[in-house]
Amino acid sequence: MCGIVAYVGEKEAYPIIISGLQKLEYRGYDSAGIALLNGGLNIYKKKGKVKELAELLEKEKEYLHSNIGIGHTRWATHGEPNDTNAHPHYSANKNMAIIHNGIIENYAALKQDLMSKGYKFRSDTDSEVFINLIEHIKNHEQCSLDEAVRLAMTQVVGAYAIVIISKEDSTQLVAARKGSPLVVGVGEGEYFLASDATPIVEHTKKVIYLNDQEIVVIRNGKLQIRTIEDLPITPYIQTLDLELSQIEKGGFPHFTLKEIFEQPKSLRDAMRGRINAEKNHLVLGGLIEYQQKLINADRIIILGCGTSWHAGLVGEYLFEEFARIPVEVEYASEFRYRNPVIREGDVVIAISQSGETADTLAAVELAKSKGAIIFGVCNVVGSSIPRATHAGAYIHAGPEIGVASTKAFTGQITVLTMMALIIGRAKGTITESKFQELITELTTIPDKVEYILHKVDSQIKYIAEEFKGARNFLYLGRGFNFPVALEGALKLKEISYIHAEGYPAAEMKHGPIALIDENMPVVFIAPKDSTYEKIVSNVQEIKARKGRIIAVVNEGDKEIKDLAEFTIEIPQTHEAFSPILTVIPLQLLSYYIATHLVDDVDKPRNLAKSVTVE
Ligand code: F6R
Repeated sequence: MCGIVAYVGEKEAYPIIISGLQKLEYRGYDSAGIALLNGGLNIYKKKGKVKELAELLEKEKEYLHSNIGIGHTRWATHGEPNDTNAHPHYSANKNMAIIHNGIIENYAALKQDLMSKGYKFRSDTDSEVFINLIEHIKNHEQCSLDEAVRLAMTQVVGAYAIVIISKEDSTQLVAARKGSPLVVGVGEGEYFLASDATPIVEHTKKVIYLNDQEIVVIRNGKLQIRTIEDLPITPYIQTLDLELSQIEKGGFPHFTLKEIFEQPKSLRDAMRGRINAEKNHLVLGGLIEYQQKLINADRIIILGCGTSWHAGLVGEYLFEEFARIPVEVEYASEFRYRNPVIREGDVVIAISQSGETADTLAAVELAKSKGAIIFGVCNVVGSSIPRATHAGAYIHAGPEIGVASTKAFTGQITVLTMMALIIGRAKGTITESKFQELITELTTIPDKVEYILHKVDSQIKYIAEEFKGARNFLYLGRGFNFPVALEGALKLKEISYIHAEGYPAAEMKHGPIALIDENMPVVFIAPKDSTYEKIVSNVQEIKARKGRIIAVVNEGDKEIKDLAEFTIEIPQTHEAFSPILTVIPLQLLSYYIATHLVDDVDKPRNLAKSVTVE
């Protein structure tokens, strides 16, 4: 949902900003631009990816000297992706320029009002309305830029992270946020601003996560923060534990593949310091304070979007199996606009990789306003959802850059599994010996993932070659693996643009079976679990209609092997943990099919990594 970067200090701003934009491109990539104070206030922007902007500016490099600048990579909300709608945007008098991530909901009314005052607009964006509102207030109130920003914030409705640069002071950046993320990097005599820490970490590890409704002004090398109510804030500077190598491709052609292959490590990291099977020990430090609420919960409501929602569906099976607590899994976007019934005794779990998804955040706020206790299961440390929840556990997957979520999904399931086991043990719904057996098995999962990755990689490349021409796919699973069918289908459609549907295998005969013919690939997720015999019948039903069957099965499987065109073998585990294994071949299948069909698998069209608009 747009990435923003800004720099002020003693170094050249342009290379810092352009490389920062490249790191943030996963947030949007339909156009990019920068503004520098180099003689005047100059904006350079272009439709297309950051690379195209950089190529264009290569010829102008000698004119790009400046110690201050702002940059933006866009995911269009208002106005089609073109050069004009690309950010930054000048104010009407061209004395200042803005970069904006978010949506201004009342922009039409504000624009009308500004037009009646004589303002003319160059673009169709809500962001240009914001900067003109700031300019108007500044001129009208004869106030400082940061004061004008503060006053404008009292008039705009919506979500934003903004940074403004102005001709009036070449040492000054003014930034603010509400609903969209903004991080300040604090270096030696220099400051960075960005949508997340990835462009900052190579320069400084010291960061400030700005809170909603805060304004930061950097002027003459000094930083000040105040609230929309004009109250000063003492900044809390954190030291990041993040290395540049963690956000680079490390020899893989795409981040997506790198992240798929990182799962043995990310899963070990999710369990590190939390599980010790030998000592029969499992603890999630972030949960302890509110753990009793979960133990006593009458019902758990899980909220999320997309892949995180799929992880939530696995969570439903886990909490019901191990902790015997009824669970409802809700799309955050639906939940927030219903009038959901939340009773005393309900506990909410919000799942989000980015921790910034606007719908999930709004659903969390709604549940909180109704008195619910909320746990977060997130990846990005310090992001908005963990800060809005009462307690939670990070999945510790490390930066996920590929737009398609992979390692976050398995990390989310791992954390939900640990939560369910802790609660089940405390409630006595799992015996001590069963608990010991389960956590021992859980700790073998990273090794099993590693084994699968190496065993099936080349086989899946071959299958991908075979099916790259298919226009539709069906994914079928049952029980714990029904959500994996949904996730497999989502992965395929989002990165390869092939239409795919996931279904509970038994639902097939209530409609989708009509689609089956000799051209329809059907992916079965069929490990030897409590639903295995049932799924064998479903495989037979597809076979009878000549569908092309690809099946993920356990090693040693015979029945499905005889029926399927391709079987992908994975090791056995407890059925509750099997989604973490079964999803791995499906991630690889989507990735390898996509490499035949799509230019940049990491950045599929129309998508953004962090959906900070509703
Ligand atoms: C799918 C994908 C999206 C996200 C969804 C929620 O691969 O990435 O469906 O899962 O936008 O994002 P988070 O988890 O950041 O809240």
